Amino acid sequence: MKLREHLEQQGATEHMITLICRITDLCKDIANAILHQQGKAGTVNIHGDEQIALDTWADDHMIQGLRESKLVKTVASEEQDEVVEILKSDGEFGVTLDPLDGSSLIDVNLSIGTIVGIFEEGNVMEKGEKLDAALYVVYGPLTTLVYTIKKGVHEFVLNEIGDFILRKENLQIPQGKLYAPGGLAKDYLPWHSNYIKALGEKGYKLRYSGGMVPDVNQILHKGGIFTYPALQEKNQGKLRLLFECNPLSFIIVQAGGACSDGKQSILTKTPQGIGDRTPIYVGNKDAVLLAEKFCYESDQ
Ligand code: AHG
Repeated sequence: MKLREHLEQQGATEHMITLICRITDLCKDIANAILHQQGKAGTVNIHGDEQIALDTWADDHMIQGLRESKLVKTVASEEQDEVVEILKSDGEFGVTLDPLDGSSLIDVNLSIGTIVGIFEEGNVMEKGEKLDAALYVVYGPLTTLVYTIKKGVHEFVLNEIGDFILRKENLQIPQGKLYAPGGLAKDYLPWHSNYIKALGEKGYKLRYSGGMVPDVNQILHKGGIFTYPALQEKNQGKLRLLFECNPLSFIIVQAGGACSDGKQSILTKTPQGIGDRTPIYVGNKDAVLLAEKFCYESDQ
């Protein structure tokens, strides 16, 4: 089954269907650009123009595509310092974008991804729990799409003629024991070090690629926990609340998992600024609760 048909079957509104299909078409262009190594910074293309970095190209391409859709009022992109207001748009949607997450992994041929959050009513500076839809695309050996409109989490795969075809419906995060811990161990807070040690003692297996999209995707399929914690000198860790943590947490929660910054659900955090970062624990409920227990006990 193709994506549009699936969205119709899920009861998505016509505008939501058009927007998600537009976004996923733009992701197909990104997949193609990666394949043809378009936009390698510092290189010259066949027309003799100096190329821009692929992540900058992907950002421009997605924002332009959303502008042309006339469905979107505001876009917040990881690559932009401010929320982009789309003038002359009749649209009401607010979209958060990380157009190409993990772009530093392109050189070594590891998987990378695009992350998107969708609000039906234009304000993107909202708590994650207010999202109406979220999706990510993994550019790996296969190009896969995972989306939710709050009616289950569904996976599609891009076929050879450019259609996203249903691969797995109603994904539920299984009980599993993988852990993907970001950040340098020497910079961990003591309670987080103890937590990671406890996971190891419980038989968790290390699986970390350095790309949040493939790492969280693996946790969604196999179970376990992804974390990028608060660090000694960076008390909000590295990852961005609006662009990375909210949409991916939203998907994992829709698939029966949980998310936390150690003290509260990621999805209940009110953004203070577009560039907010947050520590994150996302995956199986028991592994997230265990992180909160270690965090809580460190405060006593
Ligand atoms: P970038 O897009 O700059 O490559 O960053 C990727 C993000 C995220 O995808 C990943 O989980 C995290 O940064 C990895 O950070 P470390 O390199 O510190 O592990």
